[in-house]
Order: sequence, then C-alpha cells, then structure tokens
Amino acid sequence: MNDLSALPADFIWGAATAAYQIEGAVDEDGRAPSIWDTFSHTPGKVAGGDTGDVACDHYHRVPEDLELIKALGLDAYRFSVAWPRIIPGGGGAVNAAGLAFYDRLVDGLLEAGITPNATLYHWDLPQAQQDRGGWPERETAERFGEYAAVVGQALGDRVKDWATLNEPLCSAWIGHLEGTMAPGWTDLTAAVRASYHLHVGHGLAVQALRAAHSDLRIGIVNNLSPCEPATDREADVAAALRADGHTNRWWLDPIHGRGYPQDMVELYGVDLPIKDGDLESIAAPLDWLGLNYYFRQIIADDPTGPAPHAKSVYLPGVRRTAMDWEVNADGLEQLLVRLSEEYGASRILVTENGSAYHDTVGPDGQVDDPDRSRYLEEHLAACARAVRRGVPLAGYYAWSLLDNFEWAYGYDKRFGLVHVDYASQQRTIKGSGRRYAEIIAAHRRKARRAA
Ligand code: FCB
Repeated sequence: MNDLSALPADFIWGAATAAYQIEGAVDEDGRAPSIWDTFSHTPGKVAGGDTGDVACDHYHRVPEDLELIKALGLDAYRFSVAWPRIIPGGGGAVNAAGLAFYDRLVDGLLEAGITPNATLYHWDLPQAQQDRGGWPERETAERFGEYAAVVGQALGDRVKDWATLNEPLCSAWIGHLEGTMAPGWTDLTAAVRASYHLHVGHGLAVQALRAAHSDLRIGIVNNLSPCEPATDREADVAAALRADGHTNRWWLDPIHGRGYPQDMVELYGVDLPIKDGDLESIAAPLDWLGLNYYFRQIIADDPTGPAPHAKSVYLPGVRRTAMDWEVNADGLEQLLVRLSEEYGASRILVTENGSAYHDTVGPDGQVDDPDRSRYLEEHLAACARAVRRGVPLAGYYAWSLLDNFEWAYGYDKRFGLVHVDYASQQRTIKGSGRRYAEIIAAHRRKARRAA
C-alpha cells in the first residue's frame, strides 16, 4: 500500500476539465468559433475527424456532472472558462449569456460545497482574435487582459482560485512550432513571439484579477517534464540541458523574475519584443504554482532536428499508457522538489495528472481500469514523498473528471475517472473513480481523527 500519511490534513482533492474538451454547444448562446473549432474541422488534423462540437455535452448537463463530482467526494473542481463564450470577438462586446453559464456552474459547485478553481485560458482562442494575428501579436495579450477583467469581475465574488494560462508551452511550442495543435503553425519566430505574448497576457491578467477582487488566489499552470540524457555522451547531456530549457526553464524563469534563459534566447535566435515594464509584470507575485505532470523525457542530441535540436528517445521495457507516455511517478516527486527548492514555491497544486487506457464497459455495466488506479496511487504516493521532503504541496487535481475530447487524439484516448459513452452521453464512474473516492474518504477520516 502506498503511504499517503504525509499529505496535509487540509489537502485539496480535486479533478480537472477544460471547456473545449467537455462543453460542446459550440454555437449556442452567442459563442463564436475558437481556433480549436477551426483546427478540428480542418481535415487531417484530429484523429478520426473528431471535433468538440458535442464533446460530453457538459453545457447541457451541469446538474448531472455536479452529481458525479459529489459522488467522488471531491473538495474542488478545476474547469476553464471559454473566452469565445465571454467575448466572442476576442475583444469588444461581452456576451452576458456566456457569463451566465459559468454563473450557474459556480453557484452549483458552491451549493454542493465544492471549491471552484477557474482557468482563464485552456487553448480556445477566439478565431476572430487569431484572424488579427493571434498570440504572436501583442494585441492578443492586451485583449486577454481585458477578458480577464470581465471574468474576474463577474465571478470573483465567488471564485477565489484562479489560473491565468493552462500550459502555455503547448500553445506556443505545439501550436506554433510543432503544428499538431491549434492554430497548427510550424514557425519558430511565431512560436517564440507567441510564448512571449502569452507571458505578457499572463501578467496583464494577474493585474486585472487583482484589481477585480483583492482576495483572489492567483496562479499559472505549467506542464513540466524532467529531461534526462539518454547516455552520458557529452552531446546528449548538452541536448538534455537544451530540452530542459525549452520545456521547463523558459516557462519558469520569467515568471520568477529571472528573465528568459540566455542559452535558449541564443539558441532560438529570435528577438523578444520586450517593452519597458514587461518583465516586471510577467513576474508579478503569484499565490500558487500549478504543475501538470504526465511524463519524463529521455533526451538525445538531434543536431539536424528543429529547435532545441534534441529528441525524445523511446525507452524499451517501461510501463506506458495508451498515449504511449512512460509511467514514471518519480518524475512528479522530482519536479515538485525542484519547484520548491530551485524556484522557492510557497504553494503548489498538482493541477493535472492522469492516464489514458483503453477502457471498456463490461457486461455488468462496470468499467474496470486497474491500470489507472495504480497510476493514481503511485502518483499520489510521489506527492506524499515530496511533502515529506518539505514541498508545500496543497492539493491534487486528477485529469480528468470525464473522458473527453483529447485534442488531436480525438475521443479515442480516455483519461476520465468517469467513462462517457458518447452515443448516449451516459456517464459511468470507473473503478479508478471509486478508488479515488475511497482514498479521499480515508484521508478525511484520518484527518478528523487526528484533529
Ligand atoms: C494536458 C492538457 C489537458 C489534457 C491532458 C491529457 O496537456 O492540459 O487538456 O489534454 O494533457
């Protein structure tokens, strides 16, 4: 049995989702298209030609999904707000009907005693804003700050925990360099500019949220990976350092007031469009850091490949999920310790962690997913080890509450604690969901006894 006893008594047990992955209702109540509507409707971009048009139909099923959150016994629920519902044109008119949806969601959560944790941007940029240049242009950061003000003012009386961006690495590097996520570009200059303006937008959003309500707890969510050299050859060791710069330091240094890592600035060779005051605003103090953890990377030199001239090597003989991602819980412990020791984090939330497996509904109507339960237990044990080493870890949000639209992989990859039958929209709590509920209940009983 994995020992979770080090987790604090008030540890926050949660689950996470994102708007485009679950909501559906893409053309209802004034929502305009986002870059993900465009991307998913472009032939060849998403496996199986899947789109988020209907997804989990969560937009129409909030009461039912709140029941699931309650059944799992969660303390907190992390969701994202869809910018194209709130300001459909990217900038300009605010759509009251879009805000009303999140009002209902938040009120429902609070009535059920569940703490909302809202993310302002989980990749669904209004297409109209993309048409004006998207993240490579500063204007998008400014519009994002305005959108943050609107949402903060509307919901900040009830939502106290906020993240500005989810995984800006994916928006910049996967969206603009690798091209396998929206908007699907493969342009290093655009990617570096996008990364910079995402950070500028983050800084503006922090200011806007603080101005909207003085008692908000604001953070940012990064996906990080330990980058280990495949061999002790000098070239691989140097490649691993570059991969670490690309994956981790580029996203952590600027928000901690350290500027952009010089080795990477030189490697990319793209001028950052820095204006006076930007670096200070990007480094505005935060109340917490969000960590999304899925895998570590084993890195080899790749001199002819794209920046950062480093490639992930496939390790044989390790356990893998249906995403082909290595299961490595030690990597989570390692990153938590790094955020605490190297970056001085004072409060960390694991804002996503989870696994895809090929789930099926059995003849008894149950979904038996022991691999996911094991993954969950191992990663929670890694959290507990980190806490024992002094890491100020305050909570864990499992990815994901529901099976959902897994971006370029479509509906084929199931990460949910709850199974979704997309034809009928029937939800079934999986074995791992029941296991999570047991872990949470046991932790609460212990905390009560100790009090
Ligand atoms: C993360 C995303 C999330 C989900 C998981 C599997 O990168 O934030 O939306 O797709 O991966």
